[in-house]
Amino acid sequence: MGRFYVTTPIYYVNARPHLGHAYTTIVGDALTRWHRLLGDDVHYLTGTDEHGLKIQQAADAAGKTPKEFADEIAPLFEQAWKRLNIANDDFIRTTEPRHRVAVETLLRACYEAGDIYLGTYSGLYCVGCEEYYVADELTNGTDCPIHKRPVEHFEEENYFFRLSAFEQRLLDWYDSHPDAIVPDFRANEVRGFIKGGLRDFSISRRSLEWGIPIPWDPKHVTYVWFDALTNYLSAVGYGQDDERYRAWWPVDYHLIGKDIIRFHCVYWPAMLMSAGVEPPRGWAVGGWLLVDQEKMSKSMGNVVNPLDLIDDIGLDGFRYYVLAETPYGQDGDFTRKGLIKRYNADLANNLGNLLARVATVVGKKCGGIGPRAATDSPLAPAAALAYEHAAAAWDNVQPSRALEATWQLIRATNAHLETNEPWKAEPGPVVDAVMGDALEALRIIAILASPAVPSTAQTVWERIGMSGAVTDERLPDAARWGGYPGGAAVVKGEALFPRRSDEDDS
Ligand code: ME8
Ligand code: MG
Repeated sequence: MGRFYVTTPIYYVNARPHLGHAYTTIVGDALTRWHRLLGDDVHYLTGTDEHGLKIQQAADAAGKTPKEFADEIAPLFEQAWKRLNIANDDFIRTTEPRHRVAVETLLRACYEAGDIYLGTYSGLYCVGCEEYYVADELTNGTDCPIHKRPVEHFEEENYFFRLSAFEQRLLDWYDSHPDAIVPDFRANEVRGFIKGGLRDFSISRRSLEWGIPIPWDPKHVTYVWFDALTNYLSAVGYGQDDERYRAWWPVDYHLIGKDIIRFHCVYWPAMLMSAGVEPPRGWAVGGWLLVDQEKMSKSMGNVVNPLDLIDDIGLDGFRYYVLAETPYGQDGDFTRKGLIKRYNADLANNLGNLLARVATVVGKKCGGIGPRAATDSPLAPAAALAYEHAAAAWDNVQPSRALEATWQLIRATNAHLETNEPWKAEPGPVVDAVMGDALEALRIIAILASPAVPSTAQTVWERIGMSGAVTDERLPDAARWGGYPGGAAVVKGEALFPRRSDEDDS
């Protein structure tokens, strides 16, 4: 038990929430729900990134001021996360006063440390990334490698952050924190960047108005990435509420996509070191969900709206799919066919079927009252293993493996029923023992599945006759075999996940 602070990237308000944003936010939600079950004091932060040229341009195109524009889009993220049953504890917007105070505090700290200086920038800039590139990083010599659009030539007076001075300190830090970045191969990639040599980066713009002025030279506006990264500190009181900030910082995990690894794993810890702030404890780097092999993004025009998918497959069907289908860290290919297939296999057939047959047999052979499980059940070792593997998987931020471990228990329980065929037997102690085992397994399954599919887990919980909220259970005790009390009514109810017949439609 302890404090557990997790963040998502703050999403740009130039686009509406799409599947890629939903993916990262659902992973963070499931991870923090697991830690809530462990009894940790959790703080889960998400929010929106509202300054910079990209937002200014999007607002101009919409004929609005940037603030009006951001005020319209930011609530769409908040609403989407509500519909996706995201239990975030805070939602930060970079246009809030609490954020401005933190950015000014961090800027001053780096400036006073001698790591910020005035210079001239001349270079190639991608507004989509809000980042400078050098010529050999471009696609076909002209285009941004991510947005596949021509970069622009910029030249102006900028303040710079002395990143080049942090090469050795960063390498040393990563040496003494070898597990800070998951998955492993991303840590190697970061070490590679750093060893390849670090260039100072610009942290202000003169040509821009939409942002936070540099406190000692307000002709300059803070570069959007310096501004945005600081949100992780602003939200826990940095520069304002020292006690709160010290209680929560350093963050346990920044969840990020691989597109923003350099900012988070190189620039950010260097900025913090400069300011005398401890670097994060961890980063969990996700891959991209691809649609037709391309990263989903507004600029690619291949955006999938997560809210449409909820209408199609149900809230927990969608949450389960994104968590189970792609091992976190790797790229995944989103297809509707894959969505329906996984829904049918894991939710309709495995989990849904298990609950339905257990309720039916208890209704027919046990008078509708759940019998208590035997302590020496053949399923007890399977349940212990499911917990052990799920816990290890969540520790490594691998939701797909945690769910795989949970679904092993579902399969073992279905197999146990098929071996014993209680539906063919006469009512009596033998049937009671088998059904008590199945109900106890379902109780544990509901707890282990709850981070991924919270409302389904609660339904399972209630149908097997448990009272209260499954989210109030505390691990590891609640996962120990033998917690099912027996004696309560088991309810059949409607199918949890009606089977879909459109699996083969493309
Ligand atoms: O980069 N697959 O915001 P952003 C998986 N504001 N994840 C995806 C994805 C996809 N196709 N598309 C987006 C920014 N994401 C900055 C961040 S943080 C201080 C500032 C997710 O709106 C993924 O987590 O472009 C990625 O890192 C993030 O959305 C980028 O969101
Ligand atoms: Mg982006």
